[in-house]
Amino acid sequence: MGSRIMQLLSLCLYVSLHSVVTSSFTPPDNYLVNCGSNTNVSVDNRVFVADGIQPGSVFLSSGESVSVTNPNPSSIAAPLYGTARIFKTASAYTFKINKLGTHLVRLHFSPFVTEDYNLGNANFSVSANGLLVLSHFSAKKPVFKEFVLMADKVNFEVLFVPNGEEDGLAFVCAIEVFSTPDDFILDNGVKLIGPNGVQEFKDLRLQTLETIHRINVGGPKLTPFNDTLWRTWVPDEEFLVSKLTAKLANTTHPPNYQKGGASREIAPDNVYMTAQQMNRDNTSSGFSYFNVTWDFPVGAGSVRHFVRLHFCDIVSIALNQLYFDVYINEFVAYKDVDLSSLTFHSLASPYYIDFVVDSENSRIVRVSIGPSDLSNILRKNAILNGVEIMRIVNFVGIRAESKKINKWILVGSIVGGVAVVCLAILAVLVVLRSKRRKAKPRPAESMGWTPLRGFGGSSLSKQSIVTTSTSPGQNGYLALKIPFAELESGTNNFDKNLVIGSGGFGMVYKGVLKDSTRVAVKRGVRGSRQGLPEFQTEITILSKIRHRHLVSLVGYCEEQSEMILVYEYMEKGALKNHLYGSNLPPLSWKQRLEICIGAARGLHYLHTGSAQGIIHRDIKSTNILLDENYVAKVADFGLSRSGPCLDETHVSTGVKGSFGYLDPEYFRRQQLTDKSDVYSFGVVLFEVLCARPAVDPLLDREQVNLAEWAMEWQKKGLLAQIIDPNLVGNINSNSLKKLGETAEKCLAEYGVDRPTMGDVLWNLEYALQLQDSKEPSQDTNHTTPEVLEHEAVPTVYSCSSRTDGDIQDATTDVTSGEIFSQLVNKEGR
Ligand SMILES: *[C@@H]1O[C@H](CO)[C@@H](O)[C@H](O)[C@H]1NC(C)=O
Ligand SMILES: *[C@@H]1O[C@H](CO)[C@@H](O)[C@H](O)[C@H]1NC(C)=O
Ligand SMILES: *[C@@H]1O[C@H](CO)[C@@H](O)[C@H](O)[C@H]1NC(C)=O
Ligand SMILES: *[C@@H]1O[C@H](CO)[C@@H](O)[C@H](O)[C@H]1NC(C)=O
Ligand SMILES: *[C@@H]1O[C@H](CO)[C@@H](O)[C@H](O)[C@H]1NC(C)=O
Ligand SMILES: *[C@@H]1O[C@H](CO)[C@@H](O)[C@H](O)[C@H]1NC(C)=O
Repeated sequence: MGSRIMQLLSLCLYVSLHSVVTSSFTPPDNYLVNCGSNTNVSVDNRVFVADGIQPGSVFLSSGESVSVTNPNPSSIAAPLYGTARIFKTASAYTFKINKLGTHLVRLHFSPFVTEDYNLGNANFSVSANGLLVLSHFSAKKPVFKEFVLMADKVNFEVLFVPNGEEDGLAFVCAIEVFSTPDDFILDNGVKLIGPNGVQEFKDLRLQTLETIHRINVGGPKLTPFNDTLWRTWVPDEEFLVSKLTAKLANTTHPPNYQKGGASREIAPDNVYMTAQQMNRDNTSSGFSYFNVTWDFPVGAGSVRHFVRLHFCDIVSIALNQLYFDVYINEFVAYKDVDLSSLTFHSLASPYYIDFVVDSENSRIVRVSIGPSDLSNILRKNAILNGVEIMRIVNFVGIRAESKKINKWILVGSIVGGVAVVCLAILAVLVVLRSKRRKAKPRPAESMGWTPLRGFGGSSLSKQSIVTTSTSPGQNGYLALKIPFAELESGTNNFDKNLVIGSGGFGMVYKGVLKDSTRVAVKRGVRGSRQGLPEFQTEITILSKIRHRHLVSLVGYCEEQSEMILVYEYMEKGALKNHLYGSNLPPLSWKQRLEICIGAARGLHYLHTGSAQGIIHRDIKSTNILLDENYVAKVADFGLSRSGPCLDETHVSTGVKGSFGYLDPEYFRRQQLTDKSDVYSFGVVLFEVLCARPAVDPLLDREQVNLAEWAMEWQKKGLLAQIIDPNLVGNINSNSLKKLGETAEKCLAEYGVDRPTMGDVLWNLEYALQLQDSKEPSQDTNHTTPEVLEHEAVPTVYSCSSRTDGDIQDATTDVTSGEIFSQLVNKEGR
């Protein structure tokens, strides 16, 4: 349900990697509720606010519930566990979220017995944000359940639903809902471990996780009082498969937290200051190759678990002494862990690695560490400082009839005035947005699908196309219908051997039309209406815009519940295939620049051209196609939407994109702008330069994400060290410098700091000039403008002059004309 907006929310990882918090963390959202009580209680320096109904209460209630107090409070039970709120019908607490993002949720239960109720008999389900997190739950002893999840809406709801007949009960003693730091869960570098080796696990931030184990390996129990996020860590001893194999290690020096490694909120000092290592006391007997293994019981069933392992080399006395292997469920999870280099050559520096494993009905997650082949025979060792294991909760919502739900709304008073002000600002923004949207309807959406009408058989000259496209208000839509029979025969009845691509939408076939035009035929999955919105969007948008650097729609077919789009055929395929992962000959630097320039032109036209303000939203090297002359064209507008969109519903229905290319600001401001495309394009520029994927999960953590990795080198002025080996010696250093600067600006943290596509285009043209000129060219007679800041653009590039430049571009580029003969279509109707 909220999964799309959650995809959006996954983006803030970029932000977070650059902000290791050094001071103590103050959660922007921090709701602590002492349920069923009339008194606030302070636990570990935190105040849990009473939710009892009283004048000036922090809760508003619209339904009935019962507050109960434990008549025999045991001395061991925490003060929170002395009261509970009981629900007899589905009831919810609603929390106002000030800062969307990852949150920790803890639900506390103590099954005490009162005169009227036995809470131990309560059997109920709980959903958080519409996801079932506890199913047919029943507390048999004081217990809390902890979840790590994405709060992606302003109203965060915890819903309690009693199971069974009329007399069913649900209850809760205390609730915590608070923000984690942005970098608490990252999508980057999460390794999916299994029989097929190590793969990338995507979108971890979007998952709801239930904490199963949190272990301080080699150390004592840590209570919320000593943890930065009020967590509880327990010792590892009972999970060790053989206690003889392990030996405690500890240090009195506080850990050396570093950017790029763990932070104090990832795990507190105490976790990193203790560890278990290999017990090599018996090495005289030659026994130095063995694993230290822990078995952690987990629930039954084929479920996935998130495993976070914490490391801090507190055993080595010098760098590069410790190399070890990590296994999970007996699969290789990480070979040759080298903490010295992972932590940028520092000792005792905290680091963590995230994994996801299938537990295959085994009811355990087995973690082993053992010496690596790389380590010196005398220094065989392996360490582990901490383990967290969380169940990845299935996305199954529970439904309760909304009428029946008693809402418990936590009002702003709990967080004070700040929240109220924030909400007020938010409300104003929402109103402004909706006004703006009304003022400027988005053609792509107001169009709809069925209203597509043809200009029956009218012949369109290049000129008329240009004119049409500059006045979108009054044009009709081109008659692009192609009979199904023609496509069927043109693709040899959708012959599998003619498949040239596939995607969420369906298969793409190579085909020929009756007039021998070669085309790419994109056939939607039959019968499924899933891709329909994309289909409609693509036709409405593509039928409006024509540009040399945009892949043209030749036609479409909607007969017999088919959804088929027909595009011009791009002989040389995707740019990506010419960069890496295939045997195609490497492109020269000039060719690469020309391709980037072409794609930039296409994108610039989308942003500023006749159709005005189309955001592509999925710029990547597989969406830049090359024709037989290596002319670049931007493809796949299936994800496009016109205009900036801000409001929640729109974002939640519309956000898509590709991992590794996504604009971090998307998340923070939930605002989609053309600068999001600029960001993605910056990633493509580095991809072109370095000839590696935007995300490569098999690399070390700091290299996984190309944008981050390349920016590190760019900032150090050492970009030349990571370029495609095929380019070494063939690239003018000024040209490289210009490209590096341009990509860097594209990847600016904030959209406002990024150049427009027009600026990018200008700079790429300039980089091409520099490549052509003799080195050194920086200081020769033509002046070097500080191009990214420029205001006026030389007309020859026709960039920032909005429509004029585009018309010129479109007209001059059209000479190859074949596409347009297609538009003059077709038994037109
Ligand atoms: C509990 O704390 C809240 C927020 O700090 C406050 O508004 C309320 O008056 C307190 N209630 C009691 C009973 O002290
Ligand atoms: C709760 O009740 C259901 C039947 O309604 C039962 O299947 C389930 O085992 C019960 N849960 C517990 C924890 O007792
Ligand atoms: C928590 O921290 C305090 C102060 O550093 C210390 O005295 C205490 O032993 C710690 N408790 C645990 C459980 O680590
Ligand atoms: C180490 O040696 C001791 C005494 O010889 C023995 O009891 C113990 O089992 C050995 N440990 C391992 C890990 O083999
Ligand atoms: C540190 O390790 C030693 C044994 O190596 C042990 O005696 C001591 O209790 C440990 N200290 C802590 C705080 O765990
Ligand atoms: C450690 O455990 C892994 C996985 O079970 C196994 O493949 C490997 O051989 C073990 N290493 C040693 C030295 O026993």
